[in-house]
Amino acid sequence: TYVIAQPCVDVQDRACLIECPVDCIYQGNRTLYINPSECVDCRACEPVCPVEAIFYVEDVPQQWAHYTTINAEYFQTPSAQQDEPYVRDGDHRLIARLPPQTS
Ligand code: F3S
Ligand code: F3S
Repeated sequence: TYVIAQPCVDVQDRACLIECPVDCIYQGNRTLYINPSECVDCRACEPVCPVEAIFYVEDVPQQWAHYTTINAEYFQTPSAQQDEPYVRDGDHRLIARLPPQTS
C-alpha cells in the first residue's frame, strides 16, 4: 500500500483523490487517508502530490512511520457519512490532536 503522511495535514490538495483509479483515497477533516485494503499500489497518486506527502509503505520516512498505522486504523471504524462515498467524518485521533500545520 501507499501511505499519506504529515505534509498533507491542513493542505489537502486532493490531486491524489482525482488520480487514484480504484478510489481508495478518502477525505477526513484535516488530511486524506489511503485504505490499505483497497490500494493496488498503482502509484498514480504519488507524483501528483505537490507537497510530497505520499510514500510507498516501505519508504515512509522515519519521522512519519506512524502514519502507516494512522492510515490503516482510520478505516477500522465505520463512517456515518453517506452523501459522498469518499468523504468520511472526522480524523484519526492523532491527526485531530495535531496543532495547525501552517508553513
Ligand atoms: Fe494530500 Fe497531497 Fe493528496 S496534499 S490530498 S496527499 S495530493
Ligand atoms: Fe490509488 Fe495511490 Fe494506491 S493511486 S491505488 S492510492 S498507489
